[in-house]
Amino acid sequence: MRVIAIDGPAGVGKSTIARRLAERLGWAYLDSGALYRALTHAALQSEVALDDGAALAALARDLELSLEPQGVVRVDGLDVSAALRTPAVARGVSSVAAVPAVRAVMVVHQRRFAEGKTGVVAEGRDMGTVVFPDAVIKLFLDADPEERARRRLDQGQEVGPDADMGRVRADLEARDAQDRGRAVAPLAQAADAERLDTTQMTPDEVFEAVWMRVRSVIRP
Ligand code: DC
Repeated sequence: MRVIAIDGPAGVGKSTIARRLAERLGWAYLDSGALYRALTHAALQSEVALDDGAALAALARDLELSLEPQGVVRVDGLDVSAALRTPAVARGVSSVAAVPAVRAVMVVHQRRFAEGKTGVVAEGRDMGTVVFPDAVIKLFLDADPEERARRRLDQGQEVGPDADMGRVRADLEARDAQDRGRAVAPLAQAADAERLDTTQMTPDEVFEAVWMRVRSVIRP
């Protein structure tokens, strides 16, 4: 099993690139953020407080979370994919993801997802640093906050009708600060990862740059 790890901050375009790359290679696509979002959604549904680490960890252990290779996320068998993009989930997910016992459960899920597959393109915050330290390629995608907010707004993701640039940017930056500052598996570039600043690049240009790198290592 070979892994390509793609990490980076919110709104940088990791999902678009990871999904496209997985498709081109015929590999599975692992959206690790979807697992943290699914747990956050489940906590909101069952009224578990998002600052109650012990209850969140218990919930993570009890739920049957599953990620299907095409991106469908199930909690106890129910497809929750559509619910994962709501503003409530986006606002709560970083505190859920900061709980060490929650992360321990998620790491098991992520490695299990990869087991037995030919190849996996894994996307998140700690794919290259923690979950798949032996990944054959590690990329860290980055872009200025202003540009990331614009991309989020253009995609219409996680934003309500009152969305404006200032609020989207503030939300992104708050989430990144929380993700970078946590004690366990913070958002960080792995020492052996390649950083790509995509601020001035179109999605196609990013994909071509990534694809050249992949071809030089994997020769599909
Ligand atoms: O990639 P995303 O926006 O769906 O991620 C949602 C949140 O989940 C993000 O703010 C941090 C957390 N996350 C994480 O802590 N570790 C990962 N590997 C992926 C996501």
